[in-house]
This record gives sequence, structure tokens and C-alpha cells, in this order.
Amino acid sequence: MSLKILVVDDDKNSREIIQMFLSKYYTVDVAINGVHALEMIKSHDYDVIICDFVMNDVDGMDVLREMNKMNKGAYFVLITAFGTGDIAVKAIQEGAYEYLSKPFKMSKLKDILNKLANRTDIKEQKQKNNKERGDSGHSILNTNSEIFLEILKNMARIAQTDVPVLITGESGTGKEVMAKSIHEYSKRKNKSFVAVNCNAIPATLLESELFGYEKGAFTGADKPKKGYFEQAQHGTLFLDEIGDLDMELQVKLLRVLQENQVRRIGGTKDINLNVRFIFATNVDLDEKLKEKKFRSDLYYRLKVTELHLPPLRERKEDIIPIAEFFIQKYSSTDESIVLSDKAKKILMKYDYPGNIRELENIIRSAIILARDTGIIMPHDLDINLSDKGYTKFKNNLTRDEIISAIRECGGNKKAAAEKLNMSRATLYRLINKYSIKDV
Ligand SMILES: Nc1ncnc2c1ncn2[C@@H]1O[C@H](COP(=O)(O)OP(=O)(O)OP(=O)(O)O)[C@@H](O)[C@H]1O
Ligand SMILES: [Mg+2]
Repeated sequence: MSLKILVVDDDKNSREIIQMFLSKYYTVDVAINGVHALEMIKSHDYDVIICDFVMNDVDGMDVLREMNKMNKGAYFVLITAFGTGDIAVKAIQEGAYEYLSKPFKMSKLKDILNKLANRTDIKEQKQKNNKERGDSGHSILNTNSEIFLEILKNMARIAQTDVPVLITGESGTGKEVMAKSIHEYSKRKNKSFVAVNCNAIPATLLESELFGYEKGAFTGADKPKKGYFEQAQHGTLFLDEIGDLDMELQVKLLRVLQENQVRRIGGTKDINLNVRFIFATNVDLDEKLKEKKFRSDLYYRLKVTELHLPPLRERKEDIIPIAEFFIQKYSSTDESIVLSDKAKKILMKYDYPGNIRELENIIRSAIILARDTGIIMPHDLDINLSDKGYTKFKNNLTRDEIISAIRECGGNKKAAAEKLNMSRATLYRLINKYSIKDV
């Protein structure tokens, strides 16, 4: 099928390059700025709009919004600079079909258009109407990583639907943050987001917590109680650490997913559910399946839509920006703390077995140590590149062991750190981790 395309860019050069390339295959018009684009869109019937984001006066997002109001039903492809994941997500939220970050290969653009040309519904596609969006200050959206940008695009698409999602990834990669984002970017954002850590609640209690109960269902049930399923009604239920759910509850969960109904313990009627489910796990469900600790029917149901979050070491482009975000977050407003170049190099080299959470802890302790100078130096970072097991070992100390060491040193942290044979940074990290105050 041939496509009628409008290319919008206020930069003559890039506009002409795209036009020249696409004219070999399609009918191509151009618009020299946002206002021009809107006039062209109003008076023509385009299949695809390829639009640059950064333009004076009326930018790419404005064009998309105005086009939506006209109900023109063209596919919108937004082009913008590298590393602006927040814009990508917003654009997809607003109904953009694709997002390309500069520089991109023409072949990539051609792939997108090929896909579109093969769609039979091209004329029927109605752009979603302008939706009010919350603020975009969410740090998860700031990425410079091509891999993570892909994930964000998927996230934005998934958020529009009600399909159950499984989020996988190592510990500390941001699974919970991602689950919240899906909720925030969905039409359920004004309803409740209920998070349940299946690991934190004893197996014997979990069922009644999830399903709720009627009065008299068991000893101690002196009044009826809504379970988490019902608490999430019309909203989103996030079941974390799903890999640890016992086999019996797995069957019950599967039934809820299939029937969209729950029955409270001791109850007689089924309650219809309108809940969006998000699951997360940092264990390998395939392994669990092999060991017969996870039901295959539930496994296949959860696997349909999986978002896999890469470890931080596979998105190194984001290490420094996220570190700087944490510096902002954990330093007080009247101080300015920066990373020295050497510290940056070390941060870039490290492997982060604990991922973003570990980076967060490293920065938090470093800020305390760097307070006097305002510059985070290598020795402020609790990173030992030559011995990756080091941190882990120190983290095995219990809260009590640390408190008593600090007490024995009369509250002197430097002395306590020496006594425990660790750096001051590690000690501060553990103090944070265990929320130790005033000893
Ligand atoms: N993109 C991000 N920018 C800034 N902070 C982030 C980002 N992603 C995650 N974090 C922070 O990193 C920490 C870990 O994130 P989160 O709890 O979502 O990870 P997780 O994958 O659920 O970890 P676990 O498997 O251990 O439960 C949190 O403090 C979170 O706020
Ligand atoms: Mg988590």
C-alpha cells in the first residue's frame, strides 16, 4: 500500500534528507514548522506524520495534540534528540505511534513505514483524544540508554491496556518503580494502587489478606474484611515476589485471573473484580518451573506480557545521571555537592550487583562524607573495584553488631568503622540500611 506522508521539521537539511529518501517509495509533503504542519494536516488526508519535536513556537508535541483534536487519524512518528525518554513516553501516551531518537538510520524509519503500510486499518485508526497527564518529573523516565528507552516505550503501550504484566529483573533494578509507572500512565491512575509483597506476609496469612474474609470465617474473624483483591477494585494490584507464592495459592490466584472474581474466605458469593494485575519477581521463574515449584499454567499466563529490566551494568549511560539525581535527592537544598571526575570513573567501572538501589546507597553515604568539601572523591565511594565480594560480606553484619560497635566507641563513627574493619562509607551505608539513629 502506498502511503501519504507529511514530514515536519524546521531544519531545512534534515527535512530534505528525509523527504529525498522517502520520495523513492511514498508520496511526501513537507511542512517547515508546526503552524505550517497544522494547516497541511487540516487540509489534507495524511496516513503518517513524521514530526520533529524541537521546533520554535509550536513543537512536535503541540502538533500531535492539535492533530488529535482534529480527529484526523494519521499515524504520528515523533523524532527527537537522544536521551529524552520522558518525551517518548508522553508522546506515546498522547497517541503517537512511534518515537525515533536522533540520530537514526533511514532504514529504521523505513521499517516503521513498512509496518504501517501493511496495516489494513490505517484509515480507521483514530487517535486517542487528548488526555490529561500528570507531571513528568518521574526519574524513571530519564534515560540515555537505548535499551531502557525501548522498555519505556513498551511500558507506555502496556499502560494503555489491562493485560496482566510480569516485571522481571535483578534485585534493585526498579521493578516496583516500573509497576507504579504503569499504573500512573494508565487510565486507572486516579484509582488505588495496592502493592503486596508476597514474601513479607507469612503463607498462612497471605490467603486471607488477599481474599478477605466474612465474619466468623475462622477464629478471630470477628468482622468481615476486604482482601487486597477487593481493595484494588478499579485500580491496580501489584503482587511483588510472585515467585515465592506457594503452590496452593498459585492455583487460587490463577482462578482469580481466569474468572475475574473473588470469593472471601467463609463467603458464599463471588465478587466481580475489575483489577489490573502487575506481578514482579527477581527469581528465575523458568528455574522454579523446572523444579516444579511454579505451576506451568500460571507461568504461561504471566509470561504473556513480560517487561524485563536490565541490570544497571547493562545501561551504563544512566549511571552518572541517576547518581546525580540521588545527589539532588539526598543533599539539602542549601548545599551543592558534585562528583569528581575520578569518582565518576569509578562509578562507571563498578558492576552494581545491587543495581540502582546499591547506587542509591553509595551516593547517600558519599554525600555525608563529602559534605565538607562539596566534592565526592573516590575514597567517599564505598566501592572496591578489586574485590567485588567485599561489600556483600560487610553487609552481613547484623544491626545489633553495628549498634554495639558504635556504642563501644562512644558514638564515634570513625572509630567504630575501624573497629569493624570497614570504611566509614560502608558504616554509613549500613547505618542507613538499618535505619540506626542516635546510638
Ligand atoms: N530510574 C530510577 N531513577 C532513580 N531511582 C530509581 C530508578 N529506578 C529505581 N530507583 C530506586 O532504586 C531503588 C530500587 O528500586 P525498586 O524497589 O523499584 O527495585 P526492585 O527491582 O523492586 O528491587 P527488589 O527486587 O529488590 O525488590 C528504589 O529506591 C527506587 O526508588
Ligand atoms: Mg521490589
